Amino acid sequence: MSKNTFEENQRRHQLDDNDQVWLFGYGSLIYLVDFPYLESRPASIRGWSRRFWQGSHDHRGTEDNPGRVVTLIEDAGALCGGLAYLIEASVFEQLDVREKNGYLRVAAEMTFADGTQATGLTYIATPDNEAYLGAASEYDIARHIRGAVGPSGPNDEYLLELAAALRNLGLHDQHVFDIESHILQMAQE
Ligand code: SIN
Repeated sequence: MSKNTFEENQRRHQLDDNDQVWLFGYGSLIYLVDFPYLESRPASIRGWSRRFWQGSHDHRGTEDNPGRVVTLIEDAGALCGGLAYLIEASVFEQLDVREKNGYLRVAAEMTFADGTQATGLTYIATPDNEAYLGAASEYDIARHIRGAVGPSGPNDEYLLELAAALRNLGLHDQHVFDIESHILQMAQE
């Protein structure tokens, strides 16, 4: 059974319910927006890369057959693009449930398209969480994703929707797009 990070996240930051906080989203938080927000803006964070290295036991896979979803990996000099949402702190109650499979809320310094910056929070699944799967080739990740499905739907839907959302934002992510190419190729075989 993988560890549930809900309680730890709830304890992490001393926030009042009405505080307004910037949340940086880089995975499903970009395209599956089932939470209220006050404003959203394209943003990026430096020193991190998006990788399909986190296992998903509760959304895109199961305990016995986990899917693969994205987390952020420390990568000096790299720039990870995504979407920032200004939310009321009370919204973390539902976000902490959604991201409970290994993700921890951590402080993030984000830069908006106009060059201004804000400190906010982002969810990261670090290598020491029990659902972490780690590195594999883009081809092997694609094969893995093709074979997984969970309560939130097929794992390849997560990948394809993320790739489309990144393109819509004008963002290029070679890792995501290479996995997408393999998946589209495999679908034709
Ligand atoms: C995020 O989208 O920012 C976190 C990972 C995910 O929920 O897919």
